[in-house]
Amino acid sequence: MDIDWWKDAVIYQIYPRSFFDHSGDGMGDLQGIIDKLDYLSSLGVDALWISPFYPSPAFDGGYDVSEYCDIDPVFGTMADFDQLLEESHSRGLKVIIDLVPNHTSWSHAWFKEALGDSPGSRARSRYVFRYSQNPPNNWGSMFGGSAWSRVQELTGKAEDRDWWYLHLFSSQQPDLNWGNPDVQEFFLDILGFWLDKGVDGFRVDVAHGLIKNPAFPDDKLGLERWEYADANGPYSNQPYYDQDRVHEIYRSWRHLCNRYNPPRMMVGEVWVRPRERASAYARPDEMHQVFNFDFLHCPFDYRLLRQIITESLRVDGAVGAPSTWVLANHDQLRARTRLGYPAGAMLERGIGAGDPQPDWEIGLLRARAALLLMLALPGSAYIFQGEELGLPDFTMMDDAARRDPTWERTNHQVRGRDSSRVPLPWSTGRPNYGFSDAKPWLPQPSDWDDLTVENQEKDADSTLCLYRESLRLRKEWQLGSGSLTWDNAPTRVLAFHNGQLHCWVNTSILPVNLPPGSQVILSSTGHPESPDAVNCSVGNSATSGSSPVLEPNVTMWFTRVDK
Ligand code: GLC
Repeated sequence: MDIDWWKDAVIYQIYPRSFFDHSGDGMGDLQGIIDKLDYLSSLGVDALWISPFYPSPAFDGGYDVSEYCDIDPVFGTMADFDQLLEESHSRGLKVIIDLVPNHTSWSHAWFKEALGDSPGSRARSRYVFRYSQNPPNNWGSMFGGSAWSRVQELTGKAEDRDWWYLHLFSSQQPDLNWGNPDVQEFFLDILGFWLDKGVDGFRVDVAHGLIKNPAFPDDKLGLERWEYADANGPYSNQPYYDQDRVHEIYRSWRHLCNRYNPPRMMVGEVWVRPRERASAYARPDEMHQVFNFDFLHCPFDYRLLRQIITESLRVDGAVGAPSTWVLANHDQLRARTRLGYPAGAMLERGIGAGDPQPDWEIGLLRARAALLLMLALPGSAYIFQGEELGLPDFTMMDDAARRDPTWERTNHQVRGRDSSRVPLPWSTGRPNYGFSDAKPWLPQPSDWDDLTVENQEKDADSTLCLYRESLRLRKEWQLGSGSLTWDNAPTRVLAFHNGQLHCWVNTSILPVNLPPGSQVILSSTGHPESPDAVNCSVGNSATSGSSPVLEPNVTMWFTRVDK
């Protein structure tokens, strides 16, 4: 049994409401995931991370949980979940579920009880209530506006007039008080419930946010946090993030995960600077790994990429954790969109129809090049659903269709994350690209016919085929468990080898030659020189002449025969 499977795993993120709709109501569901398990296993990933499917009023796409040990009827039943787990395991796919411990939904029984009880009661002490005439401090919600709302708005009771509750996200997501032993015990029970079912691990939401500075001091950003929303802004040194005591929580969870055979894993969503502070969450007695958001946000630039990769390996290595690599998730622009803009473009507010649009061609070239870079690195990699199709964001989405609370909470200043959450296109010529027979919960663009799974499976040079081929080769060459050595290369080319496999990424605007005697294993532009590469599920190692050309925005994997 491979108990360390997570160290070099490729993990595919499913955002269930947009994956595949089996029931025909316009919303993806658990049976829809089961329907597509063969697709997922043919892709060659090792594990699935499934975003929340718990009962929820879905003010924040299910990250507002009203019942932690159940399934929302829109996604199916607990029997569906059991079947999903069993059928994934029977195909050798591990399953990681999303745990949301920073806040509950305002519809959670505990919060209702708290509102029904009086100030100072045990029920209220499970959340963060404060007495004050004005908002207790200047903290802003991550989605815009104040992080405090008046209790009286919900209870209508006179005695609640000067009481406030904290919500770092939307007002429908009250923060839990992690100083309260009730909360700590409650979550140990939740973990135990899912571990007993046999899940292989957890993705821990907002893992850096559970403990707040007990003095509740003002922060540096206030309500104008979007003005500072560059990569260095909101995530260092905030009184509601990365407090030292948060680590005790993960130690107790690790202890529990270790009691299972094999031990179960945890990956943290940790937005923290500097990097050492993030890796601290992946110390040997805490979580197993944390997401590498520096890599996700890195422009297509050899110097910055090299710096971030070197730093990640050094800092994660120092705590004995594998580095992780990720290019997109449900909170971010898709890789094709982000990399289609020049480095330094301000993208934090999302993109609307009236904004400058990315260069979609360059974006796709670079997204494919970045994939081959990511998969050549040692450690584990996370893939967001639809990235394997090279999907763009739906940047032209009608603003009226948006669901992300950010759009309203920022008075239409920040568009939020809907553009990457659009339901997947499965087949060409079917209503809603075969995602559902009913109108999907978020609209899809009208020009995705070429991008469907059905279409890409027929085209050996498609992005889908590149994913399958590169994932297969990553396994064959054991790149995830290898190690990286930087190589000299022409200007603006990122060059390294991992075992016998060399990887060059051309971030310049000029073509360069690979070293003489190089034998190309895979190019991010596919196998144009290989006429028999017609079926993407079958591996195909192309070779080329003595000194192949590496065009700008392309990555090549190759071996050297001249040593
Ligand atoms: C995490 C999730 C995001 C959610 C937020 C609040 O950042 O990834 O989607 O909105 O937490 O739970």
